[in-house]
Amino acid sequence: MYCLARINSRRSFYIFILCTTMVTVTWFHQGPWFQNVYLYMQSNTELASSTSGENTAILRALHPIMTSLNWTRNRKSIGALKIKEHTEALKPCLSSSEIPKVRIDPRKNKTTLARVNAEIFGSMVRKVRHAAGTANKSLPSILMKRRSIQKAASSIDQTISKMNLAVDVDDYRVLPGGHWIPLSCRPLWKVAIVVGFRNRFQHLPIFLRHIVPLLKRQKLEFSIFISEQRNNLLFNKAMVMNIGFIEAMEFNDFDCVVFHDVDHLAMNVRNYYGCENMPKHFESGEPKWNWKLPYQELFGGAVGVTTSQFVEINGFPNVYWGWGGEDDDFYNRVVANGFKPSRPEGEIGYFDTIEHNSKDSSRLNIAKFCLQKQCAERMSTDGLSNLKYEPPTIELHPLYTNISVNIQRLPWNPKWKRCDTLDTMYSL
Ligand SMILES: *[C@@H]1O[C@H](CO)[C@@H](O)[C@H](O)[C@H]1NC(C)=O
Ligand SMILES: *[C@@H]1O[C@H](CO)[C@@H](O)[C@H](O)[C@H]1NC(C)=O
Ligand SMILES: *[C@@H]1O[C@H](CO)[C@@H](O)[C@H](O)[C@H]1NC(C)=O
Ligand SMILES: *[C@@H]1O[C@H](CO)[C@@H](O)[C@H](O)[C@H]1NC(C)=O
Repeated sequence: MYCLARINSRRSFYIFILCTTMVTVTWFHQGPWFQNVYLYMQSNTELASSTSGENTAILRALHPIMTSLNWTRNRKSIGALKIKEHTEALKPCLSSSEIPKVRIDPRKNKTTLARVNAEIFGSMVRKVRHAAGTANKSLPSILMKRRSIQKAASSIDQTISKMNLAVDVDDYRVLPGGHWIPLSCRPLWKVAIVVGFRNRFQHLPIFLRHIVPLLKRQKLEFSIFISEQRNNLLFNKAMVMNIGFIEAMEFNDFDCVVFHDVDHLAMNVRNYYGCENMPKHFESGEPKWNWKLPYQELFGGAVGVTTSQFVEINGFPNVYWGWGGEDDDFYNRVVANGFKPSRPEGEIGYFDTIEHNSKDSSRLNIAKFCLQKQCAERMSTDGLSNLKYEPPTIELHPLYTNISVNIQRLPWNPKWKRCDTLDTMYSL
């Protein structure tokens, strides 16, 4: 602005030239746009050989300039992901018993994703947003490759980290799509948080603002997936969470999954999201139940299973359309497979919940009582084993990966007893 203001006097013309040169030099030297264009083209050329023709020529021309400007210095901060070699040499991160017992009163004020991004990423927010945008643009070609060429050898996260799009924030390295990796210690567990989601956009920023700092304090490696049903059929949270699990495993080889409601906020840092003592129900009480549970078999809100347990249990049932029932069915599966779920005691397991209007419950699944009676007979044939869905739309955001899927009813297995009257009455 100063430069422009002085331009109408003749002598000032030289000042203007000087200013412009200074601005340009600083810009070149500090980036980030110039380096980013270069890195983006470079990673894209590696990825999508189809568009490589013109890009390679430009890249070749740019290379000597970028080298002479020592762009590698900036590239380092964007982060070539040598994470494995790096972390293996480190001491292990703190264990669950070393986590301080800190009570948190969750902030439930309304907020926006932009504000939460700024709060969590601080001065790195622009870099993270840019990295997520770049990775998101390349994602369709990565997915296409994975879907067409059998199973690609490397996971989606591995492919993304080869694109130099990781950003260091505090003592964590963040990959686009909300994957956090500790840098100061070797994480004990790699956890996928999968949120079965629909229409709760006002809750999402509040949830992320709460859970990301909490998981960072537990020094876990974690990634957040929002698995969303994209149609007007009744909400089938269980099927959407099954899909979230399958898709999350394409991103990385997580040790366990925590299926989480978007309106549930853990109130104690000691409530450990690592993969110990699973299957695990994370909750011992919440205010609306006078810090107790309505019944001991409750298995919703936040439940964790190891990857192999979830496969063994055959995932969630796919037949529950409408609100409720699937969590009790899942509990029955867990127990029937010989697992004994754990639960934190007392205030370590307290959760606060974000209020929402109770209109949702008018879409209660009335067929659930009938369906639950047949839990055992459907267990091995309804779940991950019969799951079919069209390829979801996947988007990478700075704080989460959005898996959005248009699910449909699966064929009814003739071996299952029908819950006819109720089932047809309450389906669309
Ligand atoms: C480029 O940066 C690195 C790391 O800061 C430094 O070691 C190297 O000497 C620099 N090279 C040039 C040509 O400035
Ligand atoms: C947010 O909520 C807290 C109580 O949890 C309250 O003290 C504060 O004033 C609220 N802030 C805004 C901006 O609404
Ligand atoms: C991600 O990329 C797709 C196109 O591939 C675009 O439609 C979408 O808006 C992008 N989303 C974000 C959050 O950048
Ligand atoms: C997820 O992606 C779908 C499709 O692009 C979009 O309609 C939806 O708003 C996104 N949801 C979230 C939580 O980002």
